[in-house]
Amino acid sequence: MRILSGVQPTGSIHIGNYLGATKQWIELQKNNECVFFIADLHSLTTPHNSADLQKNILEVAVAHLAAGIDPQKSVFFIQSKIKEHTELCWLLNTVCPIGDLQRMTQYKEKARQFKKDINAGLLNYPILQAADILLYKTEAVPVGKDQVQHIELARTIAKKFNQKFGKVFTEPKAMLSKFGAKIMALDNPKKKMSKSLDPKGCIFLFDEPEEIKKKIMSAVTDMGKEIKYNPAKKPGVSNLLTIYSLFSEKPIKEIEYSFKGKGYAQFKNLLAELLINSLEPFRRKRKELLARDIYIHETLKLGAKRAQIIAESVMLEVRQKMGLI
Ligand code: ADP
Ligand code: TRP
Repeated sequence: MRILSGVQPTGSIHIGNYLGATKQWIELQKNNECVFFIADLHSLTTPHNSADLQKNILEVAVAHLAAGIDPQKSVFFIQSKIKEHTELCWLLNTVCPIGDLQRMTQYKEKARQFKKDINAGLLNYPILQAADILLYKTEAVPVGKDQVQHIELARTIAKKFNQKFGKVFTEPKAMLSKFGAKIMALDNPKKKMSKSLDPKGCIFLFDEPEEIKKKIMSAVTDMGKEIKYNPAKKPGVSNLLTIYSLFSEKPIKEIEYSFKGKGYAQFKNLLAELLINSLEPFRRKRKELLARDIYIHETLKLGAKRAQIIAESVMLEVRQKMGLI
């Protein structure tokens, strides 16, 4: 299958990003044709500091390579290097209904958060995302739950385009990890873990052991003292159990059983230890890669070359169908 996904260069990745998206990418690249990229153009729609952008792109690239993206297997590049993304975005603008854009949850949330800068890019964000996806005739898009609405819009746009101009695009589907598609913030288990909304509630993939320990020990738990999975009544403990289960690869039932009669403190201690150990290889790999920035730049350049070949051939079809040539 042709698989594609993107990530914005907005800070470090946290275990929610990892469990909801990146971990799936690493698995999928074993048996599929994968395209992964850093969505720098998308990141311009919210306030950013241009002096930091290149540093952030490098940081995200390192994070994903450290997490296990293999540039031999996957095409890995920076979005803005392939001009066809923006060209296709414009063409799809003429197919996408405005009403659909105004209905997007992420647009409404961000418009509320950045009241002083509701630019047209924020509204048109999903069209660029649709262009990213359709340009590579993507079949499946591994993302967290919050992105499903955008993938469905990409599907609608593909359908409309194909009906109007003749079949070019594949209709993509979102691909969610069964469990872990929504990891909650440690300081507020009713909200998703999010670096852009609340960095305090995040455990980052490269946090040092002391930080991990501190964050887990102070994570919000619930009334009572039982270690039991019940997201409605015990959202805090359920979130920690989900994290425990995903990193230990043990079913939740088994974990509940092993903590029967033990308190939150003991559970949190062992969870902190599990996370410290599980994240150790990522910390080590990141440090190695940070010292090899020429290699990282070359890898991304090579990825862009491979992406360019697909993008050019699909754009030729699109221009032909739309009557541009
Ligand atoms: P953030 O909200 O932290 O800024 P991004 O918007 O950069 O995250 O998302 C990057 C990827 O991680 C997306 O595929 C998104 O669906 C996924 N993701 C983000 N937060 C979570 C979460 N708390 N749980 C699971 N997946 C998530
Ligand atoms: N909007 C996605 C996010 O915030 C990032 C993204 C950009 C993306 N283009 C994409 C994800 C194409 C999947 C496919 O996480």
